[in-house]
Amino acid sequence: MAMTLKDLREAEVAGKTVLLRADFNVPLKGGEVAEDFRIRKTIPTIRWLLERGARVAIVSHLGRPKGKVVPELSLRPVAGRLSQLLGGDVPLIGDCIGDEVKIAVGELKSGDVILLENVRFHSGEEENDPDFAAALAEPFDLYVNDAFAVCHRAHASTVGVTQHLPAYAGLLLQEEIRVLSKVRDNPERPYYLLIGGKKAKDKLGVLEELLPKVDGILIGGGAAFTFLKAKGNEIGRSVLEEELLPRVKEIAEQAYRNNVLILLPKDVVVARELSEDAETSIVPVDRIPADVMGLDIGPQTVRVFSEKLREAATVVWAGPMGAFEYKPFARGTEAIAKTLAEAPGFTVVGGGETGEAVIALGLEDRFDHLSTGGGATLAFLQGKPMPALEPLMA
Ligand code: 3PG
Repeated sequence: MAMTLKDLREAEVAGKTVLLRADFNVPLKGGEVAEDFRIRKTIPTIRWLLERGARVAIVSHLGRPKGKVVPELSLRPVAGRLSQLLGGDVPLIGDCIGDEVKIAVGELKSGDVILLENVRFHSGEEENDPDFAAALAEPFDLYVNDAFAVCHRAHASTVGVTQHLPAYAGLLLQEEIRVLSKVRDNPERPYYLLIGGKKAKDKLGVLEELLPKVDGILIGGGAAFTFLKAKGNEIGRSVLEEELLPRVKEIAEQAYRNNVLILLPKDVVVARELSEDAETSIVPVDRIPADVMGLDIGPQTVRVFSEKLREAATVVWAGPMGAFEYKPFARGTEAIAKTLAEAPGFTVVGGGETGEAVIALGLEDRFDHLSTGGGATLAFLQGKPMPALEPLMA
């Protein structure tokens, strides 16, 4: 059933102090924002609030500082990028609770915005501590959640705070839920799941949950090698998660029983080492030498996967096809991204690393939906509980 969230556009925000939960958990490099997709996607909600005269403070986490102040995980670079995108200064306040925040919020005029420091510098955030949630809420009249990527977490800034303030869903959050609900509840068929990423461990839960709902599963990346091993292939020094072999075999059997196609790589790019100047070769999966690792899918696999993906009416892609951050192993991910960018079906990319690859290739606008969520997207598509959405239900 379609999920309806309390729409920010129904709130009266003029002159009100608004706590906006965003997910600005973005990659940093050399003290700068390396990739700003999540920040850019939150701009429409921020602008909507500012244009209507709200007084806005944005709260976000960055990384996993585990309740301690970690200077490298300060949101300062994000404040800089946000200022550029909004075309005006967005001051960073040194904390997210306490007097400094109360004073800064008290001084906000209609149409002003500030950014609060990393909410995970306090252990009360991840513990969803009620006192911490009350302190976060204290200076505000309203709460808006636009942080889809963290909605699978029951934290103080996503759940606890809603005990104290009228809560609404921002524009980005509503759009994510609208698109992903359609894929979850009523996908056009055939529906294929394209899985990759470093490890099978991170993806097995998704595979098990989605297997009854999809028509086919294509597996690349490091995740494929445990599947290849379970089929009896020798995989050399490729990543093997031995403890997963029984579960992987069970998935393969279940797929067979349910008439769900499982496609594994036919050939792979191998090397002795994972490096920028590694010497590579392409081998069929039944002839992987003992002393090499498989680090990308090969050209034959690209052809076979691409053919299937072009037939699909819906594709969900989660996980790169190889170690794409190294040039010698980026071709598989690049080729599949290009295929999907032109494929006629409805294409959804689950954020995280896959999203980064798509953005780096300049293909961001060529997919029907590039989700800002990584774990959250997969949790939602599996039908797992999304605690931060509960308090926002209309
Ligand atoms: C993400 O990057 O997936 C979200 O920001 C959530 O981060 P977390 O996995 O550290 O909770």
